[in-house]
Amino acid sequence: MAVATSVLRHEHEAILRMLDVADEVSRRVERGVPVAPEAFSGLVEFFRLFADKCHHGKEEDLLFPALEGKGLPRQGGPVGVMLIEHDQGRAYMKEMAAVAEAIVKGNADAVRRWVAAARGYSDLLRAHIQKENNILFVMAERILSDDEQAELARGFERIEIDKMGAGTHERLHAMMDKLVAEFLG
Ligand SMILES: [Fe+2]
Ligand SMILES: [Fe+2]
Repeated sequence: MAVATSVLRHEHEAILRMLDVADEVSRRVERGVPVAPEAFSGLVEFFRLFADKCHHGKEEDLLFPALEGKGLPRQGGPVGVMLIEHDQGRAYMKEMAAVAEAIVKGNADAVRRWVAAARGYSDLLRAHIQKENNILFVMAERILSDDEQAELARGFERIEIDKMGAGTHERLHAMMDKLVAEFLG
């Protein structure tokens, strides 16, 4: 049973859903449809906590080292590429976060900058998730034993508690449901 990679694949679905919301926000902004400032800050919070801190944390702290331990090289291999893309995502997110604050203060030009960063982030992360789902996780599922997958999954639960704190996961899921209903419903 590929418990750990299943958890990560499942989280990819949630991230893709929120990228759909981000893309819809960008389209509305470009059509001149007003979007409440909370949508921008909500997306930034979700991507920062759920996608980066928690999901990428599980990959970087546990899955990737486990794969390296099995002989998959970091440099020049798929793990190295994934790490570079996580960093590229962080740069886009930093811009989105900075601009979201300006949007709350009513800066119209900030909205255009948010769209540029959000598009870059969405394109990057969609391609990244495809590569993990279809290449890296397939390799992981081949080289990790059931016991190693189960051990990783237990580590993921600890990361969840350490990095997110009690109640954060539920709060982010509630926010995701609200944004999905508002923008994709
Ligand atoms: Fe990743
Ligand atoms: Fe991932």
